[in-house]
Amino acid sequence: MARLVVVSNRVGPLKDSRKAGGLAVGLVDALKKDGGLWFGWSGRISEEGTFGPLQTESTRRVETATIDLNQADYDGYYAGYANKSLWPVLHYRLDLAVFERTYELVYRRVNDRFATRLKSLLRPDDVVWVHDYHFMPLGRALRAMDVENPIGYFLHVPFPGPDFLTALPNSHQLVRDLFAYDVIGFQTQRDVENFRAFAELELGGYVGEDGSVTAFGRTILAKAYPIGIDTEGFAQYALTAEAKRNQQRLMAALGGHTQIIGVDRLDYSKGLPERLHAFERLLENYPEHRGNVSLMQVAPLSRSDLDAYDKIRRELESVSGHINARFADMGWTPIHCMFRSFTRRALAGIYRGSAIGLVTPLRDGMNLVAKEYVAAQDPEDPGVLVLSRFAGAAHEMPEALIVNPYNREHVAEMIQTALRMSLEERKERWNALFKTLSENDSHHWAQSIIADLRQTHRATLAA
Ligand code: ADP
Ligand code: F6P
Repeated sequence: MARLVVVSNRVGPLKDSRKAGGLAVGLVDALKKDGGLWFGWSGRISEEGTFGPLQTESTRRVETATIDLNQADYDGYYAGYANKSLWPVLHYRLDLAVFERTYELVYRRVNDRFATRLKSLLRPDDVVWVHDYHFMPLGRALRAMDVENPIGYFLHVPFPGPDFLTALPNSHQLVRDLFAYDVIGFQTQRDVENFRAFAELELGGYVGEDGSVTAFGRTILAKAYPIGIDTEGFAQYALTAEAKRNQQRLMAALGGHTQIIGVDRLDYSKGLPERLHAFERLLENYPEHRGNVSLMQVAPLSRSDLDAYDKIRRELESVSGHINARFADMGWTPIHCMFRSFTRRALAGIYRGSAIGLVTPLRDGMNLVAKEYVAAQDPEDPGVLVLSRFAGAAHEMPEALIVNPYNREHVAEMIQTALRMSLEERKERWNALFKTLSENDSHHWAQSIIADLRQTHRATLAA
């Protein structure tokens, strides 16, 4: 069987860890079943950067190979183009986007360099699968070096419509680069439609009835493959001793109060201040919850050397401080905000001990926390998921209480509905959600895209 080679900016860790980030979690789950090579950035900065030695590690099934970045590459490629230009645009935040020609040049230079290093690791029958917005031009760079292997791509974040995306300088070139791949996977059908619209309206391409998109003489498959979690595995985590210890600690700390949980990297796309204001509105509109319901927000710091992230951290501290000062009483603090991270087992216990999972991003490619919250619940007494309509997960999880995160009145009302929901309705909704998550788990996600990739590549060779 051909080897799978996964490429992404973040690589691993392969063991249960406290690392936050949907991409790493999704890929660990997908790779641990089928094995393969995982190539990307080591997470370190050194003088030699991409020219430095290859760092390798292996477990029974998965091998990792990573290289460093130098400071200029980190600033231009990762902090600059990926996270100051692309991330805000792809999350509908043009107000936060910074466009600098040098960022884009360094981004392309780093992509070329990763392609060169990757090429030396490739075997002729490898299937290559590239991930996320850090590596959009990597496929083109590989093709320019005569790599003929099947190469697929998956975008973990949203793909906005052409009216929006064209605000990005050189967006045509970037989308054109995607046509070097054989298959492009998106989180939702909406993202696929936006991509097709861009190809047709901006690039003069056309869309086939079979889902193929043709432009610049290349026909590729563009399709939705919603990323899943290892549902069974995560449900098992919730039953481990570590999970139970954390759940019990939580129960003791709550002293009979009801808990709402939020778990997100500290990112402006996650709608955290809006979420806290919605909780404040709940306490205003339904005073019976004062002293009885609290919100725990776990928000590990992310990309904290970037101004926009520093700002959102300060805002979160200020909003939670304000609400706590306004409502706190002896023996009850409305909001517990923490920047620390937990192991996956500990998180599973915390989810299980929480009556409501509050997942209200302003924009999110998928949102795995929503899925983990459901997977960790006790089937006999499950909690309720309140989920933003702007998370990709909402497309697959209609049995959650779907909310508009910009409308605090509405979110407060839905939290109230969740708090009042009968056991029968909670079970009914949870059963439907869990069934979907079990069918569309991380293994299914990886298998579907890889199967399409092999088939599309064979068809391209035959044409
Ligand atoms: P994103 O990819 O934008 O970070 P997701 O919700 O898709 O968003 O994925 C986040 C992942 O990071 C989840 O698997 C979640 O469990 C994990 N995570 C988030 N916060 C923490 C934390 N404090 N400790 C450990 N893992 C975390
Ligand atoms: O899923 C979105 C994502 O950007 C991943 O690509 C990334 O690994 C994760 O969030 C965490 O961000 P970072 O890698 O910048 O720490």
